[in-house]
Amino acid sequence: MPILSEPVALISDVHGNVEALRAVMSDIAAQGIVKIINLGDTVGYGPDPESCIDIVSEKCTVNLCGNHDYAVLHDAEGFNPVARAAVDYVRARLMPEKENPDPGKARRWEFLQRLEPLYENSCFEAMHASPRQPITEYVLPSDPEMDPFKLQDIFAAMSQPVAFIGHTHFPGVVEEGKDWFLMPQVLDGEYRIGNCKAIINVGSVGQPRDRDVRSCYVVFDGEVARYRRVEYDIESTIGKIRDSGGLHEICGLRLREGR
Ligand SMILES: [Fe+2]
Repeated sequence: MPILSEPVALISDVHGNVEALRAVMSDIAAQGIVKIINLGDTVGYGPDPESCIDIVSEKCTVNLCGNHDYAVLHDAEGFNPVARAAVDYVRARLMPEKENPDPGKARRWEFLQRLEPLYENSCFEAMHASPRQPITEYVLPSDPEMDPFKLQDIFAAMSQPVAFIGHTHFPGVVEEGKDWFLMPQVLDGEYRIGNCKAIINVGSVGQPRDRDVRSCYVVFDGEVARYRRVEYDIESTIGKIRDSGGLHEICGLRLREGR
């Protein structure tokens, strides 16, 4: 496998949580990493979609499209009521008004419109959800055991030996042909690329769901993917969600439990 010329940070599912995003960006900068790939869902659930878009558009080398980003522009089809309300909230905040043009709104709306579904280089590919359906399909921790044929098709859709994804907010690695999901805890936080294809879920910056409340992301040097966990001011985010006047309180409360 070709070695990367420099390490890259892969972040996903920021979900409008600017406290978490700032903490992760500081952690990335402290390691001297300048190349950052954002796998999408920059908005949705959280109270600060504008600030999060501003930060990722300035700092990230690549920004990809997640299902929430897509839903804000189009339709929240298939979303549960809490997620749908969050999409409506973000759309109301971000959508430019014809009568009252605001350059900031226009720029952020254009950011959403220009998001691509896929990124690929000579070493790996990256998308929000799955190599087969880049924006919407879930690659679940239970799939290796419960749905191996689904995974067979997904691995067949890969054009590189390694794919980085987000979407489930649940970090871990799926290897082709194996019937287990490797959580970061059993990997001591590191996964070394081997001879089989691997799908690496980088976890979520703004809404982790693996019962670890800290932000999660990955640093990859071409050979080893290292999970990073970063603490941030959770209570500040919860307070802003509670006072948002549009987001469901559960969007904040779940941050306290990482679920
Ligand atoms: Fe998400």
